[in-house]
Order: sequence, then C-alpha cells, then structure tokens
Amino acid sequence: MTSEDTRPLINKNPALQAYYASLESRIGYRLILGGTRHFGYYEPGTWWPFPISKALRNMEDRLFECLDLPAGSTVLDAGCGNGYVAINMASRNLKVKAFDVTERHVIRAQKNVIEAGLENSVTVSRGDYHHLEGFPTESLDGVYTMETIVHATDAKAVLDGFFRVLKPGGSLVMFEYAHTTPKDAPEASRLFRQVNEYAAMPANAEFESDALLSLVEDAGFTDIKVRDFTQNVKPLMRLFFILAYVPYLVIRLFGLERHFVNTVAAIVGYRYFHIHRYMAIRATKPNSAGHPLEPKKVQ
Ligand SMILES: C[S@@+](CC[C@H](N)C(=O)[O-])C[C@H]1O[C@@H](n2cnc3c(N)ncnc32)[C@H](O)[C@@H]1O
Repeated sequence: MTSEDTRPLINKNPALQAYYASLESRIGYRLILGGTRHFGYYEPGTWWPFPISKALRNMEDRLFECLDLPAGSTVLDAGCGNGYVAINMASRNLKVKAFDVTERHVIRAQKNVIEAGLENSVTVSRGDYHHLEGFPTESLDGVYTMETIVHATDAKAVLDGFFRVLKPGGSLVMFEYAHTTPKDAPEASRLFRQVNEYAAMPANAEFESDALLSLVEDAGFTDIKVRDFTQNVKPLMRLFFILAYVPYLVIRLFGLERHFVNTVAAIVGYRYFHIHRYMAIRATKPNSAGHPLEPKKVQ
C-alpha cells in the first residue's frame, strides 16, 4: 500500500474529530455495524433487520452498480471510514484511492485492507475532501461518497474538486441524506438542529429537498440520476430507534444530548421518518462537447 506523496491540507474541524472520538461513536459503530458507518439496504417492508452485515454489503453493492465502471477503473473513496466500502469495490476489481480526515479511521482502514489482502488495489491516506490538490486534474474514472458529505463545511468546494479530478465521462456517485424542513413540528426542528450541531453535520442542515442535486448540477455534472432509498434504510432506522429508546429517556432527563448524539439521531430519524430522504445520486462529468462519453444504463 502506498500513501499519497504530497502532504494534504486538512481543515481544522474539532467538532467533527470530537464526534468520531466520542465513546458513543466508537462503541456504537463497532457493536452495531461492525465498524462500518453507513446504512444497510433492505427490500421495502422488511421487518427483521438481521444479519446487518448482509444489508451493509447490499448497500455497497448498490453503490458499485451506480458507478457502472469497467474492471480496472480507478475510483476515489472520499471519507472512507474503516475502509469497508473500498474493500467491497476492490473485490470487484476497481482500483480505489481511499482517504479520510479522521486518523483513527485511516489506520483502521489500512489494517482492514491488508487483512482483506487487497493492498495492491486500495491505497488509504489521510486527507480532507475540501482539498483534493494532491490528485491530478482529470485523473480518475470515478468518485464516490458514502454518507460523508453531510460533514462538509463547504459542499460547493467539495463538488468542484470532484469535478476537477474526474476524467471526462467519469462517474460521480453519492449516497447521502437529505430532508424536508419540519416547519409544523418545532420539536423535530429542535432535535434535528441538535443532531447536526453535535455530530458536526453543517451540510446536512443545508441539504433541504434537492439542494445537493443543485450543487451537483452547478459543479457541471450532467446526466444526473437519483434513486430514493429512504424506504430501504427504514428497517435499520427502526432498529436504532428501538435500541435507543430507553437510553434516550435517561439522556434527556439528565440533559446529556451533546454526549450521546447518535442516540438522539436514532430517535429523530425514526420518529420523524417522513422528513428524511436517503438519496443515491449518480452523475457524469461531460466530455468537451458537453455530453457523457457514452450512454449509461438507466438507474
Ligand atoms: C458516516 S462516516 C462514513 C464512512 C464510510 N464512508 C462508510 O460508509 O463506512 C463519515 C466519514 O467521513 C469522514 N469525513 C468527514 N469529513 C471529512 C472530510 N472533510 N474529508 C474526508 N473525510 C471526512 C469521517 O471521518 C467519517 O469517517
């Protein structure tokens, strides 16, 4: 495995680092999701959410389908966490340049890649998706994010960077959250604001309805396709709600929301399920004529 040669710029973001360093985050993700940090994909109407690992891999498989790239293509995993998505992509013969801003995640991802025997297909480095200067212009066939752009402090700059590093005809895939604003539900708005603040998700507050789509379009991408996976993540949101219910009552009683933001998020996520959307966005960087290089499969 190699690291990127250039030392990347990293924005200071103590709130983000505190969120991922918290005991709740470290233990919660490990115990419930085995260290993966994204939702699982279920058929709508599923009630039994186990085994969770199968649903997690299903979601990654959807991402691979959306990328729609031939074997040997090189893709960027921006915000790779512990590397499980990158490992899945590499096991399907993509070359992955994975990076994450949280050092602990980078170290864990590097170990996981070695354990999977995929160090020739995946590089893992520390980096900030606001600063892609270390990646040459038009050098990548694909870029993807799995539930990470919500943390961006300047999502427009991130999208502009993705556009620059992609080759003409390259694919951008983003599996991200959006929402509608609960104007008639002040309690939902209050809890939603708390979650965004304590989990360092400023962009999540901005991603009302189609805001992320507009950013993708404004960056220059075309052929934008959206799939709505909101019903597909519901079984895991329900499980999180059930697990969080009693702890949340205690946390609220003692005013400890700041320290247990995932527990609060589990309650907000399911109680106000109707305001949430889980979107799979796929877009193409057009060639110089302003069109995708070749027609892509309809998603
Ligand atoms: C919810 S986790 C998702 C991790 C991984 N994509 C997965 O699916 O398991 C979000 C990840 O984004 C990373 N992240 C947040 N802001 C970032 C940034 N500015 N640049 C790179 N990674 C970032 C976090 O450290 C965290 O690992």
